[in-house]
Amino acid sequence: MTNFSTLMGEQKLLPIIQANTPEEGVHIATAMQAAGLSLVEVVLRTEASMEALKAIKASIPSLQVGAGTVLNEKVLEQALTSGADFIVTPAVSSHLLNVLQTCGKPVLPGVSTTSDILLAQECGFNEQKLFPAALAGGAPFLSAMSSIFNTVRFCPTGGITQENQCDYLSLNNVLAVGGTWMAQKEWVEQRQWQRITDACLSAVANH
Ligand code: 3PG
Repeated sequence: MTNFSTLMGEQKLLPIIQANTPEEGVHIATAMQAAGLSLVEVVLRTEASMEALKAIKASIPSLQVGAGTVLNEKVLEQALTSGADFIVTPAVSSHLLNVLQTCGKPVLPGVSTTSDILLAQECGFNEQKLFPAALAGGAPFLSAMSSIFNTVRFCPTGGITQENQCDYLSLNNVLAVGGTWMAQKEWVEQRQWQRITDACLSAVANH
């Protein structure tokens, strides 16, 4: 099965979409694609987010669209039915990891401690999301993990910014960084789609 990093290809930024309506989701995703990005994550935190995921898949078929905030089988099923190309979780449990092992899509399970990392690794997941990265210890924590879990690579999210993203990306066990900073709430509210494109371009300029 394809893993997450293969799907990412050269892209080192995982832009996160929080959409209040499907239409808003399509605008955000279009703005991100205009910056040359080919993969985005839709977090399933709003009532409209599953519909937004479907609408993005329907409007921009060339975009790889992941579903985030997957915490149980029911949401996983809905995400897969809605066309999610990959799955991201904010946390792990043995049960969730077992279900994810057979979901047929690349998965980025969310970890925040050494125990989580080991549990996910035991289930075969060598690519993991550190969440919430800044609160869980940030780049120094990931640096310390590289000699202990030397086959695990991370995509940190939560507290990543334009300013600190390179602290993470300079580590050899970081495959990408994720976050919402390139689609800020007020830009979305004011329908300033070009600002999202520009922020994505700035984010990837030094990768
Ligand atoms: C996530 O879902 O991974 C985070 O909420 C992103 O965090 P951020 O808003 O700090 O980028």
